[in-house]
Amino acid sequence: MAKVTIPKLKQMKADAEKITMLTAYDYPTAMLLDQAGIDILLVGDSLGMVVLGYPNTLPVTMEEMLHHTKAVCRGTKDALVVGDMPFMSYNISHTEAIKNAGRFIKEGGAAAVKLEGCGQHMIDITRAIVDAGIAVMGHIGLTPQFIHQMGGFRVQGKDQDQAQALVDGAKRLEDAGIFSLVLEGMPDEVASRITATLSIPTIGIGAGAGCDGQVLVIHDLLGLTGQRPPKFVKQYANLFKDMQEAIGAFKREVQSGAFPTKEYTY
Ligand code: KIV
Repeated sequence: MAKVTIPKLKQMKADAEKITMLTAYDYPTAMLLDQAGIDILLVGDSLGMVVLGYPNTLPVTMEEMLHHTKAVCRGTKDALVVGDMPFMSYNISHTEAIKNAGRFIKEGGAAAVKLEGCGQHMIDITRAIVDAGIAVMGHIGLTPQFIHQMGGFRVQGKDQDQAQALVDGAKRLEDAGIFSLVLEGMPDEVASRITATLSIPTIGIGAGAGCDGQVLVIHDLLGLTGQRPPKFVKQYANLFKDMQEAIGAFKREVQSGAFPTKEYTY
């Protein structure tokens, strides 16, 4: 596969070619996804929940994100790596936002950063980061860093006013210079409207089939969480169960003496 670039992603939208994005947090997963031809690897701050065991994404730090972004970049050849800016790493001032976004590129090796929200403050910050020369992916709808304001992980844009606010916010983010926009947890008609309005590609998660591409958390797709997935997740495997079985077999065989046999002995 040829290297995925931001102009290529824009061309994919123009050609109605669907974009694939998955989260990755480590070197072997990045290699697998890259070799499978996934277009974008997102080092999501979902890291906090699926890898680090936090209850939500709010405690995730810059250092944690950079540590995992570096590992993902080491495993990636062709995909575009996007680093997710953690809560409070971009919210306080333009200077701090630019500095932290720059760390994802200079230290992490990512090609772009992602940040959540489309209120005026976030739009101004987005513009400042873009103006500093850093590519930004937006993220609107169900934005997990706003979990307390939303009252939980709730679908957004269900009434007309909320839906219109999302369409307007998406347009303002495009005008601020983002190269792509994640649409999470919203009715499919709203996501389709936004996708038709923008010239940049939209990537949906729980936002229906009308987006220019789709993203899932890799642990959800592979069934690695050991929990019932949300409605929008298609679980393509149940690795949690497979791993439980493998680990159980190891324990039984060590206890019974069935492992190691001569075959596994020097
Ligand atoms: O952190 C993450 O994994 C994300 C995706 C769900 C889009 O932001």
